[in-house]
Amino acid sequence: MDTIQVKDKTFRISIPESKIQERVKAIANKINQDYAGKNPVFLSVLNGSFIFTADLLRQVNLPCEICFVKLASYQGVNSSGSIRELIGLNVDVTNRHVIIVEDIVDTGLTMAHMLDNLMKQNPSSIDICALLVKPGKLQVKLDIRYCCLEIPNDFIVGYGLDYDGYGRNTKDIYTLV
Ligand code: IMP
Repeated sequence: MDTIQVKDKTFRISIPESKIQERVKAIANKINQDYAGKNPVFLSVLNGSFIFTADLLRQVNLPCEICFVKLASYQGVNSSGSIRELIGLNVDVTNRHVIIVEDIVDTGLTMAHMLDNLMKQNPSSIDICALLVKPGKLQVKLDIRYCCLEIPNDFIVGYGLDYDGYGRNTKDIYTLV
């Protein structure tokens, strides 16, 4: 399907499944090389990264742990800027190598907030692994070591990302028309 309707808005396909899967595999391969022997903890940020996390982690062949946190900053099609923690971290990351798995970095405020909180627990290292980054919208300086794709400042849905709770369940990614 070239266009989909999600609630009151129309979205057009912008990143096909084949491209997403190719990039996810490439990033997983890099992580496999960089983290060999490091026993990392993957910290997946719900809800948007649930599909990305599942695909990425099936390509990661290292001994590792995976846990989930749930944050919310977006309302409708805009970042609210204030981040609420809905499910907290239940793993001790002290002296561990942490890889944050995020669906999309927009303003970067969510990642900055997570990094601040995680640093307090003295992990050995923290890297960010993002499916998508909107470089044109970043409001904070972030070092994103692993990024599958950079995209323009448009609002997107699909492959885990939502518009107002809907549109997460597609294999491709769609951009607001
Ligand atoms: P940030 O804090 O502004 O970087 O926003 C990060 C969060 O906003 C992501 O984890 C997404 O949940 C959400 N988000 C940002 N851009 C989009 C988008 O284009 N579509 C859907 N959700 C988005």
